Amino acid sequence: MKGIVFTEFLEMVEKKFGIETVDTIIVESNLKSEGAYTSVGTYDFWEMQNLLANLSKQTTIDINSLIHSYGLYFFDSLKNGYPYIFNYYKTAFELIAGIEKHIHVQVRKIYPDAELPYFINHEEDDSKLVIEYQSERAMYAFAQGLMERTLEHYNEKATIKKEFLNDKGTKVLFTLVKNA
Ligand code: HEM
Repeated sequence: MKGIVFTEFLEMVEKKFGIETVDTIIVESNLKSEGAYTSVGTYDFWEMQNLLANLSKQTTIDINSLIHSYGLYFFDSLKNGYPYIFNYYKTAFELIAGIEKHIHVQVRKIYPDAELPYFINHEEDDSKLVIEYQSERAMYAFAQGLMERTLEHYNEKATIKKEFLNDKGTKVLFTLVKNA
């Protein structure tokens, strides 16, 4: 997992819960990196899992809610880091439908070691988008947060329904329906 995902995560934790919480979760997570992340580095996903588990213990907020909040937070970093992507796409549905075939393809060119999810577009028209999330990391709540902020960015309103295709959350079907 890319370092930027860790640096932004710790920044969010500091803003929401304070620097002491950052220190506590780093110590309790027993990290090989010792929490000294650089945005261009690459680190084991289990470090993120440990950080999330310890943050959940500290705050008594469940892990998926924390991941969802992190998706909402991370959107700003994407918007600031890649403004041309948001200029290129004119609607939220077009952007979301373009993640697999365009956006993450570009990400992979910049960071060949990025651990990205796989998306399958099942159905797409102006009012409905059905897209399947697949990833061993089961970060579907992160995807949901990013989709919510994408809709907000384009001033669009849609309901997002999710359907778990397995127990682990490694395959999740999202149905986005525009509100009239
Ligand atoms: C400007 C647009 C975007 C850029 C530049 C971008 C880039 C990235 C990067 C750099 C990572 C981290 C890879 C790693 O840790 O190795 C990532 C992960 C991820 N991205 Fe994107 N992304 C974009 C939009 C989106 C959107 C709109 C979604 C919403 C569905 C999304 C879903 C995800 C998910 C769920 C992950 C976590 C990894 C996983 O689940 O396996 N991305 N993306």
